[in-house]
Amino acid sequence: MVNVILLGPPGAGKGTQAKKLVVERGMVQLSTGDMLREAKTSGSEMGLRVAEVMDRGDLVTDEIVIGLIREKMATPSAGGFIFDGFPRTLPQADALGDLLAQLGQGLDAVIEMQVDDAALVARITGRYTCGNCGQVYHDKTRPTKVAGVCDACGSTDLKRRADDTEEALRHRLMEYYKKTSPLVGYYYAKGQLATVDGLAEMDVVSAAIAKVLDSGD
Ligand code: AP5
Repeated sequence: MVNVILLGPPGAGKGTQAKKLVVERGMVQLSTGDMLREAKTSGSEMGLRVAEVMDRGDLVTDEIVIGLIREKMATPSAGGFIFDGFPRTLPQADALGDLLAQLGQGLDAVIEMQVDDAALVARITGRYTCGNCGQVYHDKTRPTKVAGVCDACGSTDLKRRADDTEEALRHRLMEYYKKTSPLVGYYYAKGQLATVDGLAEMDVVSAAIAKVLDSGD
């Protein structure tokens, strides 16, 4: 079992690589962004509270996201967990350490996906996802094989995110540098940080991640 954090700015490719790890290694993807979007669409009280915050590109409170992660980690994963978009603040990182310790588990790797900020606008504004299975696509770099139909599940419910505008992306990037990037130093100091080039071709990024995960065997 391997528990891994994928760390990187919006558009670094965390979700894309997490989905591959689910298929290839039977791991469980824990994406706080997906959980919050699900709450938004469900119309729950919490979903309504976070909708505006997310659309603006601000971070949701630590209390809410830690609560979501705690709930999901209660279901064990034999293949391990992929933390995608969590933790994003130092209190979240401490909380994750505590949650794993309570399960008698640890963190095997923290993989920072390094990208050039200038590439992120094109990645984010070209992105669309399947509303049914969550598969991630891109107008230029990864279009569906048949226009308008998800390759993975055949759904025609393909969507763009409300926060995937250039303006919201700049705000999300600012949040990343102010609140999340300190985690790079935090995990480096703990001896858990590995870096991969997130600008490489998708399969090359996957191979680099596999190398990190397999090096701990
Ligand atoms: P979240 O959903 O986590 O968004 P994010 O971190 O901004 O990351 P993205 O999903 O935008 O990017 P990604 O790195 O997954 O890239 P992807 O693989 O899609 O969070 C959304 C919001 O929720 C936050 O702003 C916040 O409000 C809230 N939130 C979530 N978690 C929170 C937390 N822990 N605390 C507080 N608030 C929280 O790839 C992007 C595009 O590039 C795709 O089109 C893809 O096809 C393409 N692509 C990917 N890899 C490559 C490649 N190698 N080459 C070419 N194209 C590629």
